Amino acid sequence: MTAVSPLPYLPAAAATPLGAEVARGLIARPKRLSPWLFYDERGSALFESITNLPEYYLTRIERDIFAEHGDAILAAAGDAGATIIELGAGTASKTDLLLAAAVRRHGPVTYYPMDIAPSALEQAGDRIARELPLVSVRPILRDYTRNLGELPGSRRLVLYIGSSIGNFEPARAAALLRRLRSQLAPGEWLLLGVDHVKDRTTMLRAYNDGAGVTAEFNRNVLARINAELGANFRPRLFRHRALWNDRESRMEMHLESLVAQEISIAALDLTVRFRRGESIHTENSYKFTPDAVKELLARGGYAARHNWTDARGWFGVYLAEAV
Ligand code: AVJ
Repeated sequence: MTAVSPLPYLPAAAATPLGAEVARGLIARPKRLSPWLFYDERGSALFESITNLPEYYLTRIERDIFAEHGDAILAAAGDAGATIIELGAGTASKTDLLLAAAVRRHGPVTYYPMDIAPSALEQAGDRIARELPLVSVRPILRDYTRNLGELPGSRRLVLYIGSSIGNFEPARAAALLRRLRSQLAPGEWLLLGVDHVKDRTTMLRAYNDGAGVTAEFNRNVLARINAELGANFRPRLFRHRALWNDRESRMEMHLESLVAQEISIAALDLTVRFRRGESIHTENSYKFTPDAVKELLARGGYAARHNWTDARGWFGVYLAEAV
């Protein structure tokens, strides 16, 4: 008997994570693209610039909290903390402060930065080897959102900082924390950095900066689709929009088509139509009250034991024990 494949023809690019996400997102109504698509090389560099903007308070405040309370954080983690794992480490620029505190407390420290960007991991490894010789860096090239895999070491402190969890819907955020929890033993720790709900003007400015870097970051996803999937987006024909969604407690970013237009994506064999004013939803950044963070941690299987914030209470760092 001859087996005849019932599968329809699919271009190979549609089977890659990028191609599948773009096809799914641009066929959907309303149109959407996942925020992980931002981070090609240029997008990562643009995000780095965002963290230095006067309006983008998140990175600066979290770094200040680590500088001021790094030793207290490591002390609170007790005998855990000589093994540190970081989810979505990137170039790990804020992590140095915690690693230095870990070395002060434990002497030699093993640091496992996990990320999908090999160049960022390499940069982090080189810098830390130079600046913190007592830290041995063992990079893990892995997408923790898809495949957390096995986590190395024992008596661990896991860092999930930078408000990265804010990109996930509450149910998915809790599921991710639970998956992590299943890898941890009681007495091991999670350090979670999240952005707090605050006055909306401050939040709106953080995602709509005066220099237009966030707008470039948002539109870069279209340039990436052009480069990697042979599309013909003209990024200038899309307007960056950032808005506060109070009901969902999240900042949203959208790309709004300035004109009616038709885009073709060669590698997906796909044509996408836009009405004038139609938008692509590109990111959610959830903001939490302290109670909401504790509830999320509880849903994930942790007990929040300590937390640190800045004088205005804009950003929170939560140390939670696997229970
Ligand atoms: C990297 C997800 C924490 O949501 O604030 C910055 C990404 N988007 N400006 C955030 C981002 C627009 C950032 N996170």
